[in-house]
Amino acid sequence: MDKFTIDGPTPLRGSIAVSGSKNAALPLMAAAILGDSPTTIRLVPKLKDIYTFNNVIRVTGTSVQFDEENNTLKIDSQNLGFAEAPYELVRKMRASFYMLGALMGKTGEAKVSLPGGCAWGPRPVDLHLKGLEAMGADIKLEKGYVMGSFPGDSVPGGEYELSPSSVGATVNLILAAVRRAEVFTIKNAAREPDVVLLCDTLSKMGANIEGAGTDTITIRRVDSLKGIDTSNDPDRIETGTYMIAAAMHPESSLTLTGCKPEDLGAFPDDLRNTGAKVTIEGDTIHVEAPETIKPVSVETQIYPGFPTDLQAQWATLMTQADGRSTVTDNIYFDRFSYVPELKRLGADLSVKGNRVTIDGSSALSGTSVMSTDLRASVSLVMAGMIAEGTTDVLRVYHLDRGYEDLEDKLNNAGSVIVRHDED
Ligand code: EPU
Repeated sequence: MDKFTIDGPTPLRGSIAVSGSKNAALPLMAAAILGDSPTTIRLVPKLKDIYTFNNVIRVTGTSVQFDEENNTLKIDSQNLGFAEAPYELVRKMRASFYMLGALMGKTGEAKVSLPGGCAWGPRPVDLHLKGLEAMGADIKLEKGYVMGSFPGDSVPGGEYELSPSSVGATVNLILAAVRRAEVFTIKNAAREPDVVLLCDTLSKMGANIEGAGTDTITIRRVDSLKGIDTSNDPDRIETGTYMIAAAMHPESSLTLTGCKPEDLGAFPDDLRNTGAKVTIEGDTIHVEAPETIKPVSVETQIYPGFPTDLQAQWATLMTQADGRSTVTDNIYFDRFSYVPELKRLGADLSVKGNRVTIDGSSALSGTSVMSTDLRASVSLVMAGMIAEGTTDVLRVYHLDRGYEDLEDKLNNAGSVIVRHDED
């Protein structure tokens, strides 16, 4: 297992090119399975989760070619002959559950492993399954697997209201409906950019989808979908992560290129409220750190609210703010595994329920830390970059799931991060 050794403190200066989005690419890859001819997806990041999903897709007989040099995936499901996603692969990445909607949409039936728990709670898939039943599918659970099927070539459809709104359930229901449901409406649908990109991509393939980006999405069945050549979006969470990292050290001045600022919701204004100077020009974002970071409390909400995938990074920034702030997670109530680790570095935080209270500013000093998930891990790297001395971040495989070339990008902007074998 690899670890990072980080020498700090160092400011971030220069520029970083943002990669393609992991969470947007995965639904596009599932959508490609629905096509009757090959689909090419550009701007796909080289990340562990993408490789895992490639393997999940290949199990079905679908061909997946990843031109890594050009970040381009080609997916051809013309030889798909096995509509299953096994536990051995699904347990490695929850989003493999998108195979349920994709395979049911493509072949009319699927056997997909339930994903199991996750580092910060149960993360159920009940809405995916109830939504499919509302569409007219038969759903059975057997020995940890979901067996889903449509009773005929098509079903009349219907309506399902997600409560709470869910990105994953919205994606799965769209994938299942486009070729199977005469008319299906998702209420309280996710409005996240990842869902909008999925709908736009499926529409280019020939799907009939209305309401993407609103909370009511209506899908009308089409007989066929053609493969296309299309592009993924830049990663809005990677963008937000580096924007926060650039606000943490008073001498930082960082330019991010290849961004999609309109996908960031109100986040740039949250960062401006800390005193950081944020300038957006086309697809470029420039962040200059403030002399003194003002405390700013945030609460995570569904898009366009503050993203849960940035709350750990925000709390890390707030350890350097001049006073008290809170970070409340309304999406995942228990996503605070980073808190004890930041304390080990000298930060002053406490958790009560789904809220962490942070008293800044604390001088951080390097030590060994470890974490159990992607966003917590990147927060510890950010803390290590402003801590005095040497910080070891263990188990960086979490980072390899979601941040392409993390240490190269940060080192090119002035950080001192070295990857080693933990042993
Ligand atoms: N929920 C249910 N039942 C369901 C599905 C969801 O109760 O059947 C609840 C969840 O427990 C949660 C809320 O609904 O409280 C929202 O969860 P959602 O389904 O939207 O999350 P997801 O689709 O499983 C995606 C991202 C996550 C991100 C969340 C929220 C991918 C692959 N994952 O997960 O990203 O945190 O949306 O925006 O797109 C990450 O990248 O680090 C990550 C975890």
